[in-house]
Amino acid sequence: MSVNHTLFTVGPVEVRKEVLEAMTKPMITHRSKAYEQLQEGIVEKLHKALDTDMNILMSPSSASGLLEGCVRSGIRNKMVGVSNGSFGDRWQSIGTENGKEVRKVNAKWGKAVRASDLEGAVDDDTEAITLVSNESSTGVLNPVSEIVKGVREKHDPLMFIDGVTSVFGTDLRIKELDIDALVFGTQKALALPPGLAIMCCSDRLLEKAKGVPNRGYYFDLVQMKKMADKNYSLTTPPVSLMYALDLQLDRMLKEGMAARYQRHREMAGLVREWAKKHHGLFAEPAYLSDTITVINKGDIDFSKLNKGLKERGYEISNGYGDIKEATFRIGHMGDLTPAEVRGLLKNMDEVLEAM
Ligand SMILES: Cc1ncc(COP(=O)(O)O)c(C=O)c1O
Repeated sequence: MSVNHTLFTVGPVEVRKEVLEAMTKPMITHRSKAYEQLQEGIVEKLHKALDTDMNILMSPSSASGLLEGCVRSGIRNKMVGVSNGSFGDRWQSIGTENGKEVRKVNAKWGKAVRASDLEGAVDDDTEAITLVSNESSTGVLNPVSEIVKGVREKHDPLMFIDGVTSVFGTDLRIKELDIDALVFGTQKALALPPGLAIMCCSDRLLEKAKGVPNRGYYFDLVQMKKMADKNYSLTTPPVSLMYALDLQLDRMLKEGMAARYQRHREMAGLVREWAKKHHGLFAEPAYLSDTITVINKGDIDFSKLNKGLKERGYEISNGYGDIKEATFRIGHMGDLTPAEVRGLLKNMDEVLEAM
């Protein structure tokens, strides 16, 4: 079945044709000079685009692989898992399923986590804290910088950040954040097909990891780093996807990261205005995501709406987790443009009118 509609979804997202076409370049083996050059170039461009000199590690998995890698490589026993939505809950579960002792800090869904929420939960035995930057189930952008500063006033755990739906869509000012892991994947604001997880990793996390037992093999950050130093991947990497990543990084650097972040803010603004004219936004106003808007569904029949949109060449996403039935979501990230968002919103109005 051929699908011919633009994805305003929360991931995978719309991938431009020229980026997809980069994946058809001839295959190379992953222990060749040509591959070393490919990986070296990608790492250099990632450092430049994200304005960071943290270690870059890549894994042939979805982002969850590296979320698990952080837990397995960075924590012997105790972690604090912070959550205000499905993906915060997910990282807590990853901790529990890997046998770690997880102290949960749960904030209300739709509200941002505040530094004060962590008071009393973190102590000198806390080895790491997991926190989601952009909670994709609720459309809340958590104030990571304030939370990290609040923690660091009294304690010094590793700080692990899930940046899956914020990195490349929101300027996180990584250099100013005193964090140890920032994990993301290709299928969100990078606007690539799924299949590669990437993380910015601190030296401190890698040092700690050397002494952590049972790190496993596939997501062992220490082994990944050893290979990364030689511009190699620990296991066979998705070479075709890396061709596309290489081109996509060139495209993003050409656009300019400041312009890219501004474009995301503009698209988010348009969708928020639309939502306010209907049943409103799920997330609290001061912490709205620039990549995903979660809209109260009210009496809208979402299946009918999305069916009508698909017939017109558009697709949006349903609600997620505990608020699946009460909301729906629009992804406005990656390479989408404000003009395309306006087109979507106009069509949403027309489909709703006809329903
Ligand atoms: C915030 C967040 N974290 C983690 C994930 C899981 O990522 P993946 O499916 O790439 O493992 C998602 C996926 O939607 C997400 O939005």
